Amino acid sequence: MDKIIIEGGRPLNGKVAASGAKNAALPLMAATLIAPGLHTLHNVPDLRDTRTMLKVLETLGAAWTRTGTEVRIDTSRLTGAEAPYELVKTMRASVLVLGPLLARTGYARVSLPGGCAIGARPINFHLRGFEQLGVRTTLRQGYVEAAVDDSLRGSVVYFDSPSVTGTENLLMAAVTAEGKTVIKNAAREPEVGNLIDMLTAMGAEIQGRDTDRLTIHGVRRLHPAGTRIIPDRIEVGTYLIAVAAAGGEVTVTDCIPAHLPSLVEKLRGAGVGVVEHDTAITVTGIPSGKNKGPDLRSVDIRTMPYPGFPTDLQAQFMALMTIAEGVSVIHETIFENRFMHVAELQRMGGNIKIDGSTAIVKGKGRVGLSGAPVMATDLRASASLVIAGLAARGVTEISRIYHLERGYETMVDKLRGIGAAIRIVRE
Ligand code: EPU
Repeated sequence: MDKIIIEGGRPLNGKVAASGAKNAALPLMAATLIAPGLHTLHNVPDLRDTRTMLKVLETLGAAWTRTGTEVRIDTSRLTGAEAPYELVKTMRASVLVLGPLLARTGYARVSLPGGCAIGARPINFHLRGFEQLGVRTTLRQGYVEAAVDDSLRGSVVYFDSPSVTGTENLLMAAVTAEGKTVIKNAAREPEVGNLIDMLTAMGAEIQGRDTDRLTIHGVRRLHPAGTRIIPDRIEVGTYLIAVAAAGGEVTVTDCIPAHLPSLVEKLRGAGVGVVEHDTAITVTGIPSGKNKGPDLRSVDIRTMPYPGFPTDLQAQFMALMTIAEGVSVIHETIFENRFMHVAELQRMGGNIKIDGSTAIVKGKGRVGLSGAPVMATDLRASASLVIAGLAARGVTEISRIYHLERGYETMVDKLRGIGAAIRIVRE
């Protein structure tokens, strides 16, 4: 099995560039299905998940080429309407083709995703929303079949809680529905904004970007357009936390600092230096060792929909809190099972107790973690183990690194570029 080996305790210094956002690239790639023709997406990260989405598009009949970070997708002719189990089980975001296929052809068949390492993650909000637009949905042999008799009809859709991919799926279905659709309690994540920009460039009429109420006036048809994927705020946040944990000074370039309001505040609260520039952020970690000024302080976090603290940075921030001074209370409010990293951080010396959806982290100061063999359980849990490994004394060996490769473009190379002693061993 492939492994990542980290020799911890080295500060990070220099510059690292952010890639395009995985969670923006996936819905934007799916959106190309709505309008027949040649679409160009810029700044598309080359990840296991974006490759999976290209495979899903291929099974539907689309053709694509990649040149560097530019991906051209030709959706002129669709030959299928099904996202098969083999692909959906490796990436649940495959369900994002439901909305576009309904908009384009009025029919889609998508394997119902099961639970995953972070929770049950149902798609009932998506399906209820589609039904309100006039779609009949049936579950047959593990597949959701969605069909519309005549055409999609605009309606009012309310989400019990703001679902990111639910909002995206509904938006993509509603753009060509007859009449007006209103999505209430919509997700406000920047990735939703990126999708709205793409759909608008394709001819859609959408009001309320960045708010929790989106109004869509259906148009007859959309046309292909070129769109740029926004920088990956979770990747940026991961590097900021890594530097806070390992020490040193790093500028993360090619990013949008305004997309990380809660993390920046929490890092400052912990005593970490953060300076925001137009398209970059400089972070200065507290040097390790005695007599080098104040220590890292514990702060509490509660994960919330945007602009609250992202659940996708909870595991990484917890790794940081294990080496702070004091007690940090971490509430996970989005997913019911997103503490799989805790047992692995404990193996490295982290003092963490779980009580339901709350983790209490007793920071042990800079010398709190020591290297150990650990196992990655999901994408963001893997990133937290990398951060812990960078901050720990000794050698950390992380297995099951395919999780990391789903969502971080060339992470090992990027970290080596800023001075980390990290390498991949392929077996
Ligand atoms: N929910 C339902 N029913 C639904 C949809 C959601 O009960 O039909 C619940 C979920 O179980 C959860 C909450 O609503 O408790 C919010 O989930 P959401 O639907 O927003 O999550 P998602 O759209 O499936 C996206 C990201 C996740 C990220 C979450 C939360 C993509 C492709 N995925 O998932 O990213 O954690 O939003 O911000 O955009 C990751 O990148 O590691 C990752 C897991």
